[in-house]
Amino acid sequence: MMWTSFALVLLANCGVSQAWDVTSPENSTYYNPILPGWHSDPSCIHVKGTFYCATSSFTAFPGLPIYASKDLINWKQINNIWNRMEQLPAINRKTHDQQDGFFAPNLRYHDGEFFMTCVYAQDRLIGILGTVFRTKDIFGEWSVPVTWDATPSLAIDPDLFWDDDGMVYLTSAGIIQQTININTGAVSNATSIWNGTGAAFPEGPHIYKKDGWCYLLIAEGGTQLGHRISIARSKNISGPYETTGARNPLLTNSNTTEYFQTVGHADLFQDDVGSWWGVALSTRSFGDTLQVVPSLANLTGQQGGSDLLAGVDGVSFVGRRQSHTLFDFSADLNFAPQSFEGEAGITVFYTQMQHIDLGVGLVNDTAPHEGSWQLLLRSTNQTSTVSFTPIPADWPRDGVCRIRLRVQSANDTTYRFPASLVSNPSSLVIMGYASTEVVTAELTNSGSGSLLGIYSTCNGANGDNLTQCPNGEYAYFSRWRYSGLAQEIADGEFVISM
Ligand SMILES: *[C@@H]1O[C@H](CO)[C@@H](O)[C@H](O)[C@H]1NC(C)=O
Ligand SMILES: *[C@@H]1O[C@H](CO)[C@@H](O)[C@H](O)[C@H]1NC(C)=O
Ligand SMILES: *[C@@H]1O[C@H](CO)[C@@H](O)[C@H](O)[C@H]1NC(C)=O
Ligand SMILES: *[C@@H]1O[C@H](CO)[C@@H](O)[C@H](O)[C@H]1NC(C)=O
Ligand SMILES: *[C@@H]1O[C@H](CO)[C@@H](O)[C@H](O)[C@H]1NC(C)=O
Ligand SMILES: *[C@@H]1O[C@H](CO)[C@@H](O)[C@H](O)[C@H]1NC(C)=O
Ligand SMILES: *[C@@H]1O[C@H](CO)[C@@H](O)[C@H](O)[C@H]1NC(C)=O
Ligand SMILES: *[C@@H]1O[C@H](CO)[C@@H](O)[C@H](O)[C@H]1NC(C)=O
Ligand SMILES: *[C@@H]1O[C@H](CO)[C@@H](O)[C@H](O)[C@H]1NC(C)=O
Ligand SMILES: *[C@@H]1O[C@H](CO)[C@@H](O)[C@H](O)[C@H]1NC(C)=O
Repeated sequence: MMWTSFALVLLANCGVSQAWDVTSPENSTYYNPILPGWHSDPSCIHVKGTFYCATSSFTAFPGLPIYASKDLINWKQINNIWNRMEQLPAINRKTHDQQDGFFAPNLRYHDGEFFMTCVYAQDRLIGILGTVFRTKDIFGEWSVPVTWDATPSLAIDPDLFWDDDGMVYLTSAGIIQQTININTGAVSNATSIWNGTGAAFPEGPHIYKKDGWCYLLIAEGGTQLGHRISIARSKNISGPYETTGARNPLLTNSNTTEYFQTVGHADLFQDDVGSWWGVALSTRSFGDTLQVVPSLANLTGQQGGSDLLAGVDGVSFVGRRQSHTLFDFSADLNFAPQSFEGEAGITVFYTQMQHIDLGVGLVNDTAPHEGSWQLLLRSTNQTSTVSFTPIPADWPRDGVCRIRLRVQSANDTTYRFPASLVSNPSSLVIMGYASTEVVTAELTNSGSGSLLGIYSTCNGANGDNLTQCPNGEYAYFSRWRYSGLAQEIADGEFVISM
């Protein structure tokens, strides 16, 4: 194993499981996630030309699924390790919480046999049952497990390691270590072998031995946004473990705006040609596919302002043509405005001076909504008026707003602007109406046409000489939809659009 940072190439989750090639980053041509959907805590091995991974299943039965692949790209579920009630009679009666059950499996191959160790958490860690299942045929039935009481040492996330002298070590969250008799489940008292790099919740340990070193790979930082992977090594499996030369965290997407977040809880394995691979869990943030970094300039641009404020250097706007007389356009916005200048939304855009925006920004509203978000409907051109309805009093307005913004043709001369909570489409209210006149050549000599799109701006951020908006006020858009409904082919004559 090399002390280099890893190139992320493959991904699995809570999860998505991710895998990466440790040694050949230049050939990173695989798509992540490798196991899309709920596949937390992947643990993988490579045996005789086939990769196998086990993932968490918590309280689901059958549980502890195993996936197989020859190429790390095409995966097939081949088994469930826990598939018969008699493997653990009546254990289901001891769980009430969805976070109980089997999590963080450890899949290993030793001397012609497959082993899987995992704890079964009963009633949210009040009782933790250690288990080792085994089989010679990974496609066939797995054994009734040997068990032990892992409650006293809170020994979740156990890992099995066979040392050269035949001793078998069980290393668990903490990071603690015990010896185990895999035929009986008898374990020794636990000793602390590493506390991690200082981040919260050192857990998910795995031990690998290479060139006389024992490598201890762990997850840290909690399974949420601070999740990370760190490593230490020792000549003695019992420690002390050192991090000299290690670039910890070895892998994390914490404090980044990467699409894949919470990357952690990794396992390493080697293929036939000796290449090392890694697999980790990850989650996809918000379900949004488009993050829009706000521009200092807004859609109007500050006339006579700097290039940045005027929009010469670009405006954060993505649009498409309004190509039907009657249409329906919507996008879901996920946005947490933090300053009074921050704003994001949808727009009907014709020129800088002619656009109609339905956006979200902070307002200094009266209690209890002081400083909470508000919808705004703006027409840059007051030639025609824009009506506006305040949002319903019962809409949650603190923190992140998740709102579906919409513009549609009420008829061929009027735009209608509905909005609803993403969590509750029936909360739909019509925020207002605006005349199509605002975005026509009748007001101007412009030869352009109407665009429908999304925007994000900090309206100059109320600051001098800024080159970009302050960090953090990103807008996330998803579920972009445009439906063309009808074309007006002569005054008052419509054809339904295909
Ligand atoms: C990467 O892929 C190219 C093209 O298949 C191959 O020639 C090269 O040897 C590969 N490099 C490594 C390090 O595997
Ligand atoms: C293991 O721990 C138990 C309980 O703390 C203690 O009574 C026992 O002496 C310990 N055994 C050894 C070998 O240290
Ligand atoms: C980890 O921290 C605990 C509690 O402070 C301490 O008892 C233990 O010795 C530490 N372990 C190591 C390996 O430093
Ligand atoms: C490894 O460490 C353990 C615990 O400190 C110690 O008992 C043992 O002798 C060490 N082994 C070697 C080979 O140094
Ligand atoms: C992310 O930033 C926070 C705050 O600065 C810091 O405490 C944390 O360690 C960082 N996470 C990583 C993985 O570096
Ligand atoms: C809102 O306005 C009130 C009265 O004008 C002021 O006292 C308060 O500080 C303002 N709140 C914020 C968050 O700016
Ligand atoms: C309306 O738009 C026209 C054309 O761009 C512009 O000349 C006029 O100043 C605008 N009126 C207002 C009130 O913004
Ligand atoms: C278009 O719709 C608006 C809003 O419903 C309505 O006020 C207006 O009268 C309608 N115009 C025509 C020509 O139907
Ligand atoms: C656009 O941004 C400028 C600052 O660059 C600001 O003065 C202006 O009020 C903003 N326009 C709108 C419509 O918010
Ligand atoms: C902004 O930049 C200009 C030109 O570089 C400079 O003269 C001015 O003092 C700066 N203003 C602030 C508030 O830093």
